[in-house]
Amino acid sequence: MRALLAMPSGLQHRMFSPGQREELARLAEIDIERTAPDLTAVPDAELATVEVLVTGWGSPAVDAAALTRLPRLRAIVHTAGTVRFTVPDAVWERGGITVTSATEANAVPVAEYALAHILLAGKRARAQEARYRRLRRPEHAAASDPGIGNHGAVVGLVGASRIGVLVAEHLRRFDVEVLITDPYVGAERIAELGATKVEPEELYARSDVVSLHAPDVPSTRGMVSQELLALMRDGTTFVNTARPALVDLDALRDEVVAGRLAAVLDVYDDLAADDPLWDAPLATITPHIAGSLGNELHRLGGAALEEIRRLAAGEPPRWPVDGNRRDLTA
Ligand SMILES: NC(=O)c1ccc[n+]([C@@H]2O[C@H](COP(=O)([O-])OP(=O)(O)OC[C@H]3O[C@@H](n4cnc5c(N)ncnc54)[C@H](O)[C@@H]3O)[C@@H](O)[C@H]2O)c1
Repeated sequence: MRALLAMPSGLQHRMFSPGQREELARLAEIDIERTAPDLTAVPDAELATVEVLVTGWGSPAVDAAALTRLPRLRAIVHTAGTVRFTVPDAVWERGGITVTSATEANAVPVAEYALAHILLAGKRARAQEARYRRLRRPEHAAASDPGIGNHGAVVGLVGASRIGVLVAEHLRRFDVEVLITDPYVGAERIAELGATKVEPEELYARSDVVSLHAPDVPSTRGMVSQELLALMRDGTTFVNTARPALVDLDALRDEVVAGRLAAVLDVYDDLAADDPLWDAPLATITPHIAGSLGNELHRLGGAALEEIRRLAAGEPPRWPVDGNRRDLTA
C-alpha cells in the first residue's frame, strides 16, 4: 500500500512518536522522512502510484487538479480534526475515497479542558482569585458569593457534539445537573448521557456554567446572542472552547467587563491588543490551547496509525468522515 505524507515538512515528527513512525513504515510503503507540502511539486509518475495520502494541519487541498493525478487514491487519512480545508467537494464528488479524521482523538483534550474550567467555574475560582488579589487578605468566600460550589450546580452544554458528549460523560461522576440543548439530538439520547434536553432559553437561564460545544457552520454563527447571554444569572460563567464566530462578542464583552458574568475564552486569536477583555478580572483568556498540543499530538498520530493499519488489513475505517454530514459538523 503506497502512502505519501502530504503535509508541511517536519509535521510528521510532531504527529508521530519515533515508535509510531516505525510502525507506519512497517504498515505502508512510505518514506517517513519525506513530506509533500505541495502536491504540484510531486512528479506525475509518483502520484500515479499513491493509494493513501496522510494529511494534517497545513496540508495542501486535494483539489480536482491533484485528483486527476492521483488515479489510485483510495484514502485520505487526516491526522488532525476538521478536513474542511484539505478535502474539498471534488473528493466527495469523485467518490470511492475513504476519508478519516482524528477529530475524536482531538476531542479528548478539549473535553478535559472544558471539564476543568466548568468545575473551577462552579467554585467561582476566577472571581475569588481576583477578589483575594484585590483585598490582599482572605475572607469567607461564601460571604461574597452564596451561589459558590459544585454540589447540585447546573451545567449547560450547548451541543451534544463529539466534545459535548465527552464532557457530559465526564460530568456523570460529579454531583451536578446537566442540561443539553441540541436541535439534532433527541431527548432519549440526551437522557442516556445522564442529562436533560432543554431549549436554549432554559439552558442559559438555569445554568451556573454554560459550555459551548457546537460546530462553526452557517446555522450556528452568532447563536450565542445578546438575548441568551442576558438570560444567564449574575455571577455565572460562559465557557467557549468551540469557535469565536458562534458568539456575539460585543454582548459577551459588555457582560464580562461589567462584572456580571465570567467567561473562559480559549478561542480568541483575534482580540485587539486594547480589548477591555484582557484586563477584565472575570475573563480567562487562553490562546487556543484546549485542542491537542505537545504530547497530545501523539494521540492524533495513534488514531491515524490505527486507520492505516485497518486500510492495510482491508478492514473498515474506525473514524470515517461522512461527506453527507459535512455541513453539520466541525
Ligand atoms: N479549542 C480547540 O482547540 C478546539 C479543538 C477542537 C474542536 N474545537 C471546536 O469545538 C466545537 C465542537 O467540536 P466537535 O468536534 O465536538 O463538533 P461536532 O462536529 O461533533 O458537532 C456537530 C454536532 O453539533 C450539534 N449541533 C449542530 N448545530 C447545533 C446547534 N445549533 N445547537 C446545538 N448543537 C448543535 C449537532 O449534534 C451536530 O451533530 C467545534 O466548534 C470545534 O471547532 C475547538
